[in-house]
Amino acid sequence: MRDAAPETIYLSDYSPFGFVVDEVTLTFDLHPENTRVKSRTAFRPNPAATDRTFFLHGENLKLINASIDGTPVAPDVSDKGLTCDVPDGPFIWESEVEIDPQGNTALEGLYMSNGMYCTQCEAEGFRKITYYPDRPDVMSVFTVIINGPHPVLLSNGNPVASSEGHAEWHDPWPKPAYLFALVAGELIAHADTFTTASGRKVDLNLYVRPGDEGKCAFGMQALKDSMKWDEEVYGRKYDLDLFNIVAVDDFNMGAMENKGLNIFNSSAVLASPETSTDMNFERIEAIIAHEYFHNWTGNRITCRDWFQLCLKEGLTVYRDSQFTSDMRSAAVKRIGDVIDLRGRQFAEDQGPLAHPVRPESFQEINNFYTATVYEKGAEVIGMLKRLVGDDAYATALDLYFERHDGDAATIEDWLKVFEDTTGRDLTQFKRWYSQAGTPRLKVIEDWADDTLTLTFTQHTPPSAATPEPQPLVIPISVGLIGPIGDEVAETRVLEMTEASQSFTFDGLAARPVASILRGFSAPVVLDHDLNDTERALLLAHDTDPFNRWEAGRTLARKSLLSMIREGTAPDRAYLDGILAVLRDETLDPAYRALMMGLPSQSDLATALHDAGEVPEPDLIYAATETMRAAMARRFRDVLPALYADNLVTAEYRPDAEQSGKRALANSALALITRTDGGVQAQAQYGAADNMTQQLSGLANLIRADRGSAALKAFEAQWKNDRLVMDKWFGLQVIEADPEDAADVAAALTDHPDFNWKNPNRFRAVFGSLVMHHAGFHHHSGKGYQLLADWLIKLDPVNPQTTARMCSAFQSWPRYDDDRKALITAELDRILAQPTLSRDVTEMLTRIRK
Ligand code: PHE
Ligand code: ZN
Repeated sequence: MRDAAPETIYLSDYSPFGFVVDEVTLTFDLHPENTRVKSRTAFRPNPAATDRTFFLHGENLKLINASIDGTPVAPDVSDKGLTCDVPDGPFIWESEVEIDPQGNTALEGLYMSNGMYCTQCEAEGFRKITYYPDRPDVMSVFTVIINGPHPVLLSNGNPVASSEGHAEWHDPWPKPAYLFALVAGELIAHADTFTTASGRKVDLNLYVRPGDEGKCAFGMQALKDSMKWDEEVYGRKYDLDLFNIVAVDDFNMGAMENKGLNIFNSSAVLASPETSTDMNFERIEAIIAHEYFHNWTGNRITCRDWFQLCLKEGLTVYRDSQFTSDMRSAAVKRIGDVIDLRGRQFAEDQGPLAHPVRPESFQEINNFYTATVYEKGAEVIGMLKRLVGDDAYATALDLYFERHDGDAATIEDWLKVFEDTTGRDLTQFKRWYSQAGTPRLKVIEDWADDTLTLTFTQHTPPSAATPEPQPLVIPISVGLIGPIGDEVAETRVLEMTEASQSFTFDGLAARPVASILRGFSAPVVLDHDLNDTERALLLAHDTDPFNRWEAGRTLARKSLLSMIREGTAPDRAYLDGILAVLRDETLDPAYRALMMGLPSQSDLATALHDAGEVPEPDLIYAATETMRAAMARRFRDVLPALYADNLVTAEYRPDAEQSGKRALANSALALITRTDGGVQAQAQYGAADNMTQQLSGLANLIRADRGSAALKAFEAQWKNDRLVMDKWFGLQVIEADPEDAADVAAALTDHPDFNWKNPNRFRAVFGSLVMHHAGFHHHSGKGYQLLADWLIKLDPVNPQTTARMCSAFQSWPRYDDDRKALITAELDRILAQPTLSRDVTEMLTRIRK
């Protein structure tokens, strides 16, 4: 049964645990249905704590026995954990529990995936393995003994003993329980080594299921690149002699940074040219870097409590974005990140799920692994760096690692190192961590006496999470472009602290066009009233690649909005401006490909809602289609050459150069398909020797209504490859007409390979449906109903993945009354289920408000 009133946890209630754990030894006797876990834990009173209540977390555990200092005890056991009387001084706690990995479909704790054992303990999964203080501020040295009939038996740290069916591991670095990991199974290692700057030779292994050996090389290289980068850029060396990565098929998230034993969703690590797209390669490289970087930002310095999640996630996302910028194109990476931020984080921050980067309360922490904590959390670090400068950032980070190594730290600790190294007062800046909502930044220009005055006004809309937002510190990067397109003032960072504030640029010969918020210097919605000629000038000449792209994007958005509102024709100036960019061969192909993109339909819905209007998904879809058709006509003369010149004939490499070319060629192909009926797409599909080309060929064939033969062939070719079949499932939904998207998704759920308990497969179908704006929001409500049916079905099996998918409904308040009624009826239907998880209950209650 659902808890009558799920408990709410508050940041302000934090108090340290009454005991310190010096060491813990875990012994696992593996068995699919009844694994035995013995723990031997050395506790002593924590001098920093006043409350000596001995409470150990524990869920779904069968307690076999327990003792203190060798004397059996009978603890008070509830469904959340146990309490027990304990001695005043140090003592040894021992217990034995039984757990059922096979029956663990929630994929949290110890579970089985394709016959292999694996664990997922972040955030609060360790309590499903044994009784323990499962909180990140309790750090301890772990020894792990594994008994089981499997060739590979892994845990954190270094192997200290092994024989057939037996392994012993010791991790010398104290860690919280959420970083514990265990893997057992029949796995194959792709091995390599890395020598650190201090000469430590580290063995590296990527463990995969037999058959996946051919998909390891890229991930291994990405790992070595990450290790080197973190030494060079942050001075951070690896600290064990062994680093293992394991790929598992059943995983709720992307990957997990367990100390010395990262566990990855196979989709986030396995790659080969035949089975992975360029986008997959780039994502895999970034996730491997992300998890590796956690070794310092997350593991060596961890979080005091889960409210501090952004301490490790915001910083680690920021670090992985720096890595990708260095490995590939910084401009392309930045634009991609902003597209993503606007699509996911802004949507969250402007709806009922809005919460601060550091939330102040939660019921289920798994619901706070959000775009706000991760992506906005990373933006906040980018702003901090912009404000203090690169050198001061480096100095502050050095102090952070020196001062807090081994600590479970807080956002206060993090900001203090910046205050101590720069002498700045960051009290106001800290509001970025405590206030929800996306700030609106309005700028008004005044031109007089050779002086340009920019007057900015900031306003953060109030939300339930932050009813009275206060002014933020906003770094606003500004440059000036002269009337003939020359840069007359280089980028300068204006530091806005007031609700309204003016900045002047004097000694200007002629009135320039201001290029504001360069590089997207702060996560705000900018309202800058330029006319189309001024925007066209920026699109043609801005020296800041982000703002140059942004000028095109803004023209596109404005044109689409007036097409939606007034049925106007696509804007000539926009089309001409993009055409000129496409013709400019000095520009990076990847950048030109981004220039061909349009704002997403859901972003357009947000823009309409922002303007006080009610978005109509069908009109938004139609306008987008009309715009694409206009692009196909206007760019007709350059498209064949764009396609042919960027078709890569050299052997496939997933690097920035080749993938940029393929991105441009495939953007051209999408427009060509609108006029050639799919002839070129068919040719590309037939000739493809890599997944990027094959999948793009297939997508265009479906769009041209001649996809059925290729879909069958694709299925026959790839039916044994789970990751490729995820693409096959997803693509059919994504490329369906709005009228059909829900029906296509429903039909796919009848396919024999629709293993709905596998999160990747579930998301392939339903994540795609949700991303299909006009399809999901079909006026019949069939999209809503289908998703709700399946969320009800999945919740008892896997609450975490179900709860994450619930966010599909977060935008309901912006639609028309009919759609609102349809959606809220589905929300209420789910909420009325008698045994709903705490995860889903919290999500839907927040969304429904
Ligand atoms: N800590 C992981 C990461 O971002 C994400 C994660 C959270 C994975 C919870 C599993 C469970 O790197
Ligand atoms: Zn992370």
